Amino acid sequence: MATTITKANTKLLSLLLLLATSLTLPNLVSAQTFQRLGACPTLGCIFPPDQTDFLAGQLFDLRLEVHAPVNGTEAGTGAGVGVPDEGFSFCVAKVQEGGGKTGECVDVGKYFKVKGDAGALEKWSFTYYEDLFARDAGTLTGVNVAAKAYRALSLNDPGHYQAKLSYTSGGVKQNTVANWIVREPAKKRKAKNVLFFIGDGMTQPMITASRLIAHKSINGKYQTLMQLDQMEALGLQMTHSIDSFITDSANSATALYTGKKSGVNALGVWVDSSKDVFDDPKVETIAELFRRRTGGPVGIVSTAYIADATPGALCSHTRDRSQSASVVFETLYNATSLTPKYDWPTSCKGPDVLFGGGAEQFIAGAGSYNGTDFYKAFEKEGYQVVYDNTQLKTVDGKKKALGIFSVGNMAKWVDRNVLTENLKGQKNSPTGDGSDALDQPGLKDMTLKAIDVLQKRSAGKGWFMMSEAASIDKMMHAMDYDRALGELLELDDTVRASIEHLEKIGELDNTLIVVTADHGHGFDVFGGADTKYLAAQTTDRKKRGAVGTYRNSGLSGYTVAPDSLPNNQSVVYGAQGPNFPVQWSPRYAYAAGFGASPDHRESYTINEKGPRTPATKGDDGGYVANPAEHTHGFSVSGTIPIDESQGVHSLQDVPVYAKGPGAETFRGVYNSVDIFFKIADALALGKAN
Ligand SMILES: *[C@@H]1O[C@H](CO)[C@@H](O)[C@H](O)[C@H]1NC(C)=O
Ligand SMILES: *[C@@H]1O[C@H](CO)[C@@H](O)[C@H](O)[C@H]1NC(C)=O
Ligand SMILES: *[C@@H]1O[C@H](CO)[C@@H](O)[C@H](O)[C@H]1NC(C)=O
Ligand SMILES: *[C@@H]1O[C@H](CO)[C@@H](O)[C@H](O)[C@H]1NC(C)=O
Repeated sequence: MATTITKANTKLLSLLLLLATSLTLPNLVSAQTFQRLGACPTLGCIFPPDQTDFLAGQLFDLRLEVHAPVNGTEAGTGAGVGVPDEGFSFCVAKVQEGGGKTGECVDVGKYFKVKGDAGALEKWSFTYYEDLFARDAGTLTGVNVAAKAYRALSLNDPGHYQAKLSYTSGGVKQNTVANWIVREPAKKRKAKNVLFFIGDGMTQPMITASRLIAHKSINGKYQTLMQLDQMEALGLQMTHSIDSFITDSANSATALYTGKKSGVNALGVWVDSSKDVFDDPKVETIAELFRRRTGGPVGIVSTAYIADATPGALCSHTRDRSQSASVVFETLYNATSLTPKYDWPTSCKGPDVLFGGGAEQFIAGAGSYNGTDFYKAFEKEGYQVVYDNTQLKTVDGKKKALGIFSVGNMAKWVDRNVLTENLKGQKNSPTGDGSDALDQPGLKDMTLKAIDVLQKRSAGKGWFMMSEAASIDKMMHAMDYDRALGELLELDDTVRASIEHLEKIGELDNTLIVVTADHGHGFDVFGGADTKYLAAQTTDRKKRGAVGTYRNSGLSGYTVAPDSLPNNQSVVYGAQGPNFPVQWSPRYAYAAGFGASPDHRESYTINEKGPRTPATKGDDGGYVANPAEHTHGFSVSGTIPIDESQGVHSLQDVPVYAKGPGAETFRGVYNSVDIFFKIADALALGKAN
């Protein structure tokens, strides 16, 4: 037989190599929930890990670690236990086109032509629990580490690669192999602008429920549709993180913006085992790439605090999303200014638009970087700073624009538009003067203004914007379904208005619009509920009789005017008209459930006093149903650990909608990381040798 090695053979070869290295695995504990280090099942760790795809020319850091457990199930016996091999080596080989033979494995230093003290040996230790029994018993496992890092590398030659870490463990030579792919980049730019919407936590059942409450149906046929229903392409993305099948918003944002899977809480980095939360191996984001390749302006809009994971992951790099002050620092300046010893020669160079909440990272004080006034810092870097919707209207794009409209997350659509009394008494003015932020813009106001600023500042280079409906997720966590759906309808309204606005300014055909989510929540509607009957019953079991399933689910009570109510009451309940419910408190409401929740109460009525707090601390220190909420409802038992106060994310694939140049590539079922490549290709941001 001929000796040509096919692609399949190469795969088999790497599988065998993998099997060979996995012999060092004494059990599967470390591959499950309590990992030694995510994406590193063996004692040799490579970041970028196995199965990483790169855009040609995209910058990334390389981190190598050799682990030597001092005790626990992975520690060997005899001399050398707990002593990591400091003489490990690492080489990179190109696997020839067409699956031909693997080229020579070239030492890392030579391969990447590294200079200076790159690859200097570092040493540290860490501890972890191997499983729940170990956690309960307080039995820590210790690991000693020898490591090296190489910063800001790139692979510019499309194709398949094999990277090999060779080290000695327990006197035996071991290899860890990572298979990398550098994708062939698009040569032609299809889209001038990209408008990337993220409905945080948004799933198809939420979209279906939103349509139900906001669009009138006659005999089972909708008379109007959501904007999302009318996009050109629909796909589904798989959201798993690198080391767990449920993701959080930080590492899913990393997947969407960099094309790389990462760990929970990580922004634009892979998670290494060192203590420093800023030394983890970085990867270049779509915003940094867009700036570096095109010089065009970048916009970031969110209804969350602006340092939150989804907005924060565009221009900052840390494995700990809670480093909010540093996220803002890095967004304004760059990673190198934050940590000069880890040079990172790419950045957002200060986004041209930054609109959202989160004044606590700007007002001089505890939450801001080094306690300094970040409004002033932005002004010094040439920004116009605005604090409310009235001032937002004056933004003209001559300068970069910072708009911070509240402390913390911004007010929800329902509270801004329907139950407006809830805006009072919050003391959340972005100026920090203790007054209420009563004049907050919505996602639509911010996004349309951002389009104008970016358009003005683009000078023909095109622009990139991410606009996040953050509180779909935040209100689903709180099991406040009505507010979550209000946020989703606001997102839909914003997409609709953006399309109209782009059409008006002549940019619609130049703009790729993508609308997706970063993960789901286990929410769905399963019937209707007669809220009047429910409130009148005296026991939980009788109250459940108010839920109508199948035929008894009835029709949407949200889209008909509440004729029986006095005129002013319909105003209180927000007669909003097209694309929003006519009323938010119909007698016949939707009945919904949640796949993962703490103990809580359900009455299927809107929380009139503001966002829900479904659970509060009980006598045993764990969370129980909030006794002050939905007292006329019935209790629902929780399904998640009692230290969780809110609902949690779920597994499901999330929808991707697209319109405009490049939209056709978003059809089908694919991985979250593919979204980065599709957007990068539409903008032709890859650069091969
Ligand atoms: C294992 O080693 C770590 C680190 O040295 C130590 O903290 C831990 O107590 C040890 N565990 C046991 C069971 O001795
Ligand atoms: C980082 O910021 C510093 C100071 O503002 C600037 O001199 C440097 O050019 C910036 N580097 C990058 C990569 O943006
Ligand atoms: C922040 O404060 C620390 C500690 O005082 C100091 O070392 C660092 O230089 C400060 N950072 C900036 C950017 O001023
Ligand atoms: C609605 O309420 C306002 C103020 O509370 C009152 O002035 C007005 O007359 C009421 N309108 C109707 C139709 O009842």
